[in-house]
Amino acid sequence: MSGLESYGSGQKTTWRGWQWNRIVERLPEFASRSGFNVKRMNNQDRSVCREKTVLYLCGPDDVDYSHAERLGFSRHNMIAVDIEKDNIAKARKGGAIGVAERFESVIYHWPADWHIDVIVADLCGGITRSSMSVVQSAISCQASSECTVVSFNLMRGRDPECNTLREKIPEEKHRGRLLCIKMMTLLFRDQQPSEGVASFMTSCHEWMQPAFCSYKGSRNVMDSMVCRLPLYACSTFKEKYSTLYRVWREDAMRHRGINENEQNVKNKLKALRAVRTMAIHKKYGSV
Ligand SMILES: C[S@@+](CC[C@H](N)C(=O)[O-])C[C@H]1O[C@@H](n2cnc3c(N)ncnc32)[C@H](O)[C@@H]1O
Repeated sequence: MSGLESYGSGQKTTWRGWQWNRIVERLPEFASRSGFNVKRMNNQDRSVCREKTVLYLCGPDDVDYSHAERLGFSRHNMIAVDIEKDNIAKARKGGAIGVAERFESVIYHWPADWHIDVIVADLCGGITRSSMSVVQSAISCQASSECTVVSFNLMRGRDPECNTLREKIPEEKHRGRLLCIKMMTLLFRDQQPSEGVASFMTSCHEWMQPAFCSYKGSRNVMDSMVCRLPLYACSTFKEKYSTLYRVWREDAMRHRGINENEQNVKNKLKALRAVRTMAIHKKYGSV
């Protein structure tokens, strides 16, 4: 799926399949394996997915889980998030482990000792403050790394926040591509242009391996991007660009929603972890 495609009533289902395949291909165990084909995964490959921690927006029907399950992802490592309490209550009834909170806060306050492998942000808007908060939390939280794979699904339009960028590149409408550009410009915004910075940006972009697609939703065009976080050579990044990294964290803290009720969010995550431990214990008899 490279351009704008229409799939009739199954558009989103087809897109979801595309999204999960691209996510799996970018997991470190598979990204480094030449000739890996997600359509020919064996049980051992699926057991790799089973151990991955996924944070995702579940929506009212928690449809993503059944797609991910086919690829091996496990119920107790897929954490459903939604700001709507009813959606979380419904997902829990279906067996999910979930938390009713802002996605950006959950990511930002996620325990540092629990690595986030995948973030699936199937959002309702375009490049808004809220979606940028999700990006910033993903990059600056303590539980993500350069191996964290992120997926963004964004609506094309109704996002005046990205008008300034769009004026600079009027021919580019794809919100996934624009988000990719925005990530890079934000990340390197305080750097003086130089050969070093340019080559570091290129390395970051190559590391990200962004994949894009679009499909027609019921009323709007949806654009998406799946990539690895632009934290290429993380230790180098953190050392060489430590000021930059700090600026990102500070920015993220200031963003609406991330730092509201910090203790409350942390308490919810503690409770969620306990529920997960109990679920594993119940299923396997030990943790
Ligand atoms: C498009 S739906 C997700 C659908 C789901 N992925 C599926 O395919 O069935 C997006 C959901 O995310 C929730 N949401 C949007 N932005 C959010 C945010 N910043 N934090 C938490 N929940 C959010 C909405 O309430 C909505 O239920």
